[in-house]
Amino acid sequence: MVEWLDQAIFYEIYPQSFQDSNADGIGDFNGIKRRLDHIQALGCNAIWMNPCFASPFSDAGYDVADYYKAAPRYGSNEELRELFEEIHNRNMHIILDLVPGHTSVEHPWFKESMKAEKNAYTDRYIWTDDIWKGFDGVNNIAGCIRGISDRDGSCAVNFFSTQPALNYGFAHPTESWQFGPDSEEATASRIAMQDIMAFWLDMGCDGFRVDMAGSMVKGDESGEATIAFWQKVRTFMEERYPDAAMISEWGEPDKSLKGGFHMDFLLHFGPSHYMDLFRVDEPFFSKRGKGDCKEFVDTYKKNYQATNGKGLICIPSGNHDMPRMRHWLDEEEMKIAFAFLLSMPGAPFIYYGDEIGMQYVENLQSVEGGFSRTGARTPMQWGDGVNDGFSTASPDKLYIPMDTNEQRPTVKKQEEDPDSLLHHVQALTKIRLENEALQSNATIAFEYVEDHAYPLVYRRDGKTQQVLVAINPSGQEVTCKIETKEAKQVLYHYGDKASLKAGMLTVPATSVTFFTI
Ligand code: NOJ
Repeated sequence: MVEWLDQAIFYEIYPQSFQDSNADGIGDFNGIKRRLDHIQALGCNAIWMNPCFASPFSDAGYDVADYYKAAPRYGSNEELRELFEEIHNRNMHIILDLVPGHTSVEHPWFKESMKAEKNAYTDRYIWTDDIWKGFDGVNNIAGCIRGISDRDGSCAVNFFSTQPALNYGFAHPTESWQFGPDSEEATASRIAMQDIMAFWLDMGCDGFRVDMAGSMVKGDESGEATIAFWQKVRTFMEERYPDAAMISEWGEPDKSLKGGFHMDFLLHFGPSHYMDLFRVDEPFFSKRGKGDCKEFVDTYKKNYQATNGKGLICIPSGNHDMPRMRHWLDEEEMKIAFAFLLSMPGAPFIYYGDEIGMQYVENLQSVEGGFSRTGARTPMQWGDGVNDGFSTASPDKLYIPMDTNEQRPTVKKQEEDPDSLLHHVQALTKIRLENEALQSNATIAFEYVEDHAYPLVYRRDGKTQQVLVAINPSGQEVTCKIETKEAKQVLYHYGDKASLKAGMLTVPATSVTFFTI
């Protein structure tokens, strides 16, 4: 186990949109450095930064052209190293975004691989042996690129057509051009990726968020071959970088944690029912009280039992791929949602701007492959002045336009308002950091969760304390019977305090209470 994850509270930075320091309209490393005070004051002690490597940016940097070089628009490798150093001086950690499944079509490996003559990179990507053959129906392959060079074959892609899939083999090869997951060719790709990881870890990063971690081996319906792939990477990490965190974008903790990841995200895709909580017409966290968290909790419990002790499940407030939570929830509802996010096991992840309730901006022109995701990637709203302090460039030069709503929140406005969402999130991170029963590894037991009903009640058991969390987002007071009979002290509450007497719990409308028991 990576010990620092137990107390970690992450902040996700989309580097393009966080803080511009050189007036080119796009965020950069030095801008991030300037804003570390904000992240720290929020109570976050760890950062996940989205891809920051050289890229043509057809998918916002998830199309890497050089894994060893910081994208010049963000700064130099040296400036990135200095950022790591500054973060460590503040006792914080930073993980980078590793994109092991595919590169950009502009990566030199791919350029070599496109050539008709055999060379060292011919098998670095997945190619059929005939341009008329594709990959229809193969699990973990999104489509193909063909007819772009003299090589006779189609190349598999993982996501957009500009993202050719690296070759980690097929779970069950049936064609001569398909390699096994332990073949020399697949192994060479894995070692190339490990070398890249070592390069950044040696420079000072503290681990990786791993993009599309479940898609490495193709035709791998059960996930077993991909699990075996990650177990090998884990062995390498254990030997050389035992304190580095590996966090997967997989969304199936029963698989990812077996593969050796320390933590897996629940996401807007996959079987987790994450969306039921915040992002459906009737979310559980809405005051209307028509939502449901039962299916979410049932799936969570199943995963939790399957993975208990082996790793963590993390529930982000959002990320750069889904509309912001504020699209469905008002600020009060978000306060209750954050009380949940910051009292669950696994390290919380706060997506930049969610701490002030930034909106999902609709109908924006797509930027760098963002499409509908673009509205969740608008510039951070800091304060007064031009572009809310994000950049001094003229507004038409910004990477993505600012939210133009006059009521839009800013950090400054919310710092001045003691009832703001920002202050509320700050209070919650503080409570979490002061109470070990609320941190990543303390166990959870659900005390009350019913189909389309409120409240949601759970117990967190730490080594030295137990905390009972009673959450009622609905606009009606609710009561329920629970196993825990009495509470000792109220650690925290939002709205009116809940009360617990002889196992009868009363939770006022739109409220959250944390009790010690
Ligand atoms: C998941 C990333 O979060 C997303 O932004 C990206 O487009 C795809 N993976 C492809 O790398």
